[in-house]
Amino acid sequence: MSKVLIVYASRTDETKSIAELIAEGVRISGHEAEVKKTSEIKNEDDLKGYDGYAFGSATYHGEMITSMKQILFLAERAELKGKPGGAFGAYGWSGEAPGRIFETMENIYSMKMVSGPLMLKASWIEGGIQAAREYGKSITKRLSHR
Ligand SMILES: Cc1cc2nc3c(=O)[nH]c(=O)nc-3n(C[C@H](O)[C@H](O)[C@H](O)COP(=O)(O)O)c2cc1C
Repeated sequence: MSKVLIVYASRTDETKSIAELIAEGVRISGHEAEVKKTSEIKNEDDLKGYDGYAFGSATYHGEMITSMKQILFLAERAELKGKPGGAFGAYGWSGEAPGRIFETMENIYSMKMVSGPLMLKASWIEGGIQAAREYGKSITKRLSHR
């Protein structure tokens, strides 16, 4: 069984809800998922040792939340190369954060990314619950079988 780490930055818990639904998708696929908020990650060792990753942040003022920027610097030293990855976030209208996170995971850490970032206005509208679960499943499809 593989283990996927899901880390989120959220102010009003919409992105947190998406994180938990992604975790459900991972578990439905028969794997383990751990969901953590950014403040629970103290150093790169807290990011190491998982088989797949999803990082998420809501967008505020055209940017990701600062605590997620700090996670992305830690992740540079967490040996993520070639591991499955996804990025997600709740947004209101422009939604820059998930795309920025996704690009960093792809270009800086050289992760095996899913097809694109998951952007939802809220987890509970527009088929959000299903979309977030499917996103979790798609990360597990990129796990190498062991
Ligand atoms: C002060 C403020 C600024 C915001 N700026 C943006 C923005 O630049 N682009 C955007 O897409 N959404 C923006 N939003 C909307 C949030 O991204 C949206 O409410 C989201 O669901 C919040 O997610 P969270 O509950 O995970 O914090 C903003 C919201 C507030 C309150």
